[in-house]
Amino acid sequence: MSRADEILGQLARPDRTRLSGHTAKGFDLLAERIAGYPVTPVVCYELRVAGRNRLIRFKLEGESPWRSIKGRTAIGLLASVLGRTTDRSALIESTSGNLGVALAALAGDLDLPFTAVVDDRLPSAMERRMRLAGADLQPADPGPDGTDGLSSRLRTVARLLAADPDALWPDQYGNLVNPLVHRVWTGPELLAQAPLAEALFIGASTGGTLAGISRAARAARPELKIVGVDVEGSRALGGPHGGRLLSGIGSSRVSGLCDQSTCDAVEVVSSRSGIVHCRAWQRATSLSLGGSGGAVLAAALRHLAAHPELTSVLCLCPDLGENYTDTIYDDAWVQAQGIAPDEPGMMEEPPHECKESDITPEFQRTPAAPRRGEP
Ligand SMILES: Cc1ncc(COP(=O)(O)O)c(C=O)c1O
Repeated sequence: MSRADEILGQLARPDRTRLSGHTAKGFDLLAERIAGYPVTPVVCYELRVAGRNRLIRFKLEGESPWRSIKGRTAIGLLASVLGRTTDRSALIESTSGNLGVALAALAGDLDLPFTAVVDDRLPSAMERRMRLAGADLQPADPGPDGTDGLSSRLRTVARLLAADPDALWPDQYGNLVNPLVHRVWTGPELLAQAPLAEALFIGASTGGTLAGISRAARAARPELKIVGVDVEGSRALGGPHGGRLLSGIGSSRVSGLCDQSTCDAVEVVSSRSGIVHCRAWQRATSLSLGGSGGAVLAAALRHLAAHPELTSVLCLCPDLGENYTDTIYDDAWVQAQGIAPDEPGMMEEPPHECKESDITPEFQRTPAAPRRGEP
């Protein structure tokens, strides 16, 4: 059995003999998408934190067909509903952007009409990509004052479902295939790429990525420290509700898919710190992380400063900076949020990229690469 069939078999176990031709073709297409999905790259940087050299790796989930980790989640969610589709079915899902981009493309391939319920925090790049893929974008119904975007989106989903008995809602917030896809696919892939990492930093929104990777890591490498990352104002990992500037990471609801027992530690950083670290890292290295990647980086730097025993960590980066050119990477937008465009992050000196082949297990790089600015 191919690896793609094995992954799909763990996500959904359809009785192929009882599927209609249309549905069986749908499963074949999902198996093809898994087979064609790249192993997303891991890049490694050396930098000094609290007086010690450390290694930070980034797993870049944006280097994938639909440009975010939600491509994997979308495949899993579709596998979980495909057996219930008929030729009248349509999909409805609430999305802050990335999931909608992947679902729009996959639903198009499967000839399933797709309605993405969105709110006004949707990044414009994601709106364009969903429309291009043929999705119908439904703005969330306005709620009473003080209602946040997610509550309004979920109320709108409920209204649309009540109006269409053939509509299907994959429900990324409660569907256990969301964490499962990261337990059987993303997690094992990541663990094989970073055998020497001592800690993983993973952001939470629905909590599916964090819960799934944590389960995979605890089964395979129980000594690996799992650090859940959230932003101030998000309730995803149980913090108090408040305003947030970043989209993608965080939620106005406590995650139903993970809790603090999923993690060995939780780091909560401000949206501001996430934005500052996206920009500071991009200035220093030209790698442009998405907002949640910046938040995860800020959390990792703070955690490393407090934990001198940690040398080598991995940050999971759900998407890249391309989605945030008119927000995080726009000087005027950043200034309007009261942030100086060139505010320095927590880096003590510029990080430099290193090749895996230059790193020995004890983190004695041979030969030592010259530091930036040195001859
Ligand atoms: C852009 C983006 N997509 C996806 C995720 C992961 O979300 P979830 O917890 O829903 O798996 C995050 C979380 O950090 C994110 O920032």
